[in-house]
Formats: sequence, C-alpha cells, structure tokens
Amino acid sequence: MKNGALWLDTDGRGIQAHGGSILQHNGIFYWYGENKDTDTHNRSVDFVGFSCYKSRDLLHWENCGLVLSAVNELGHDLHPDSVCERPSVLYNAETQKFVLWFHLDNRRYTRAEVGLAVSNTPTGPFTYMGSQRPGSHDSRDFTAFQDRDGRAYLFCSSDWNATMRVWELDKTYTKLTGSGKEILIDQAREAPALWHSGEKYLMFSSGCTGWSPNTMLYAESSAIFGSWRLIDAPCRGPGARRTFGAQSAAVFAANGQPYLLLDHWHPDDLRNSGYTILPITFENGLPALNWQDEWMGI
Ligand code: GAL
Repeated sequence: MKNGALWLDTDGRGIQAHGGSILQHNGIFYWYGENKDTDTHNRSVDFVGFSCYKSRDLLHWENCGLVLSAVNELGHDLHPDSVCERPSVLYNAETQKFVLWFHLDNRRYTRAEVGLAVSNTPTGPFTYMGSQRPGSHDSRDFTAFQDRDGRAYLFCSSDWNATMRVWELDKTYTKLTGSGKEILIDQAREAPALWHSGEKYLMFSSGCTGWSPNTMLYAESSAIFGSWRLIDAPCRGPGARRTFGAQSAAVFAANGQPYLLLDHWHPDDLRNSGYTILPITFENGLPALNWQDEWMGI
C-alpha cells in the first residue's frame, strides 16, 4: 500500500480508522480509529463512530464495522455534533475486557474530556461509560499506554496543549487512580504515541498546528512518572521536517519490531485522509523513522 494514501480494506473501500491505534490480541491485529465517512464542513465532520478493522498481516484489513456509534439524541455525549477522536484500546487480562478511551469534545474544543467505553470482545460493540476531565484538568489529544508490568496510563495534552499530564489507571483500566504528573511542561506537544525501548520509554509527538503537519519530536524518560525530555526529530528522508506531511497516531509492535502509524490529514476532505506505517529503527540507540514509499505489511 502506498504510504500517505487512503488505504483500501478487503472490500475495496477506503479504511475509516483515522487518529487510530492498533492492538494485537491472540495473533490478530485490530485497528481502531475515527470513521470520518461524511462530508467535511469548516474542517470538521459530524461524529459517525469509531471503526475497527482486523488483519493478520497488517496489509489486508477486514472491516468489522462501527464498534462505538454516534447516538442521535440531543445532548448525548456521542451526538454527531460532538468531537470524538483518537480511540485508544487496551486489553485488560484480569477483567478480560477491552477498554476504549477517547478524546471527547465539542466543536470549539472547550469541553476537553476523555470518554470511556468497554467491551467483552475486540470487535465490540463497546458500551459507553461516561467521560471526565482527568484530575479536573483539560485533556485534548491523548493516548492510553499499557506498560510491560500490566499497569496502564493516559498521556493527555493539557493546559490548552501547553503541558502534558500522565495519569495512572487502576487495575481495571476503567478508572483513574488519581496519581498523575505534569510532564513536558510548556513544550506544547500533542498527538502522543508511546513505546518502550530497553530501559527507556519513548514518546513521539507533534507540535500544535491543528491539521497542518509540523516537526515530530521524540521524548524519553527512564520511568513513566520520571523526567521526560524532548530529545530530537526522528524523521529522515524527503519532507522529514514536516513529518512527511503526517502526524503521529500510535505505536504498535509486530514480531518484536515497533512501528509508528501516522495520519495524513486532508482538512477540507477529512474522510480521504491517508495513512502511513513506518518501522521504528534505532541508530546508536536513538529512534529513527526513515521514509518508505510503500507499506508492505509483515
Ligand atoms: C490536531 C489533532 C487532531 C484533531 C485536529 C483538529 O492537532 O491531533 O486529532 O484534533 O487537531 O484540528
């Protein structure tokens, strides 16, 4: 598949999984994302729902439909007038539930909450459980991250995106414990995508220019609640300065190799926004993303 293009599913239809995340479960990859298959007005679309696609090779994606759909009831959090973005799904081995966190907002982005939905199966349907401002702080772009010890966290762009906050989730992944920390203070980062590499944690993120591409940077820390520091720009190749025209969505691994999923936003025609997947390579221990024209799967 051509990196940067809107990819097609196994039915030949455009994949609607923007701002997405990929979860591996029992040998199958599940790609969750925003279904934007409706007309764009003022650089925004009505909320349709979150889609799920599944694949074994990360190349052939079968549409599993909407796992959380818009609700056409006035005032409902999932109303088409709401903004629901960046679904991030974790599997909780203890409760055997799939936990979907997402960014819930209004069109002016002043609500700034995280929403929660839960399912017994990866392909849903997920049951909506409500929303909150983590620790009473605003939260816009965010990601949910499961650590190797089974603990999970939310990384949220906060203070109108000036500062990021990391919040610990409880054992069920459905509640915040209240433990949190300000990180990357006044660094103005969004679109966080988390991974771990050896002893270090890695965060890829974008600057705050809305749908317009800017320079991706990565940050490192030796602990989740440690001192995160922005290190450098990982992209290499044509257009690297503007992240190849894309923005980070999520990191996932296949056969031990980490990959970054990216969105190529088309602000005036959001449903046709494209995708890229690039392997994360390490040069002298530092992460790099080399542009590749094609995504060949695994
Ligand atoms: C981007 C963000 C997207 C979406 C967009 C709206 O910065 O990463 O998820 O919220 O702004 O302008």
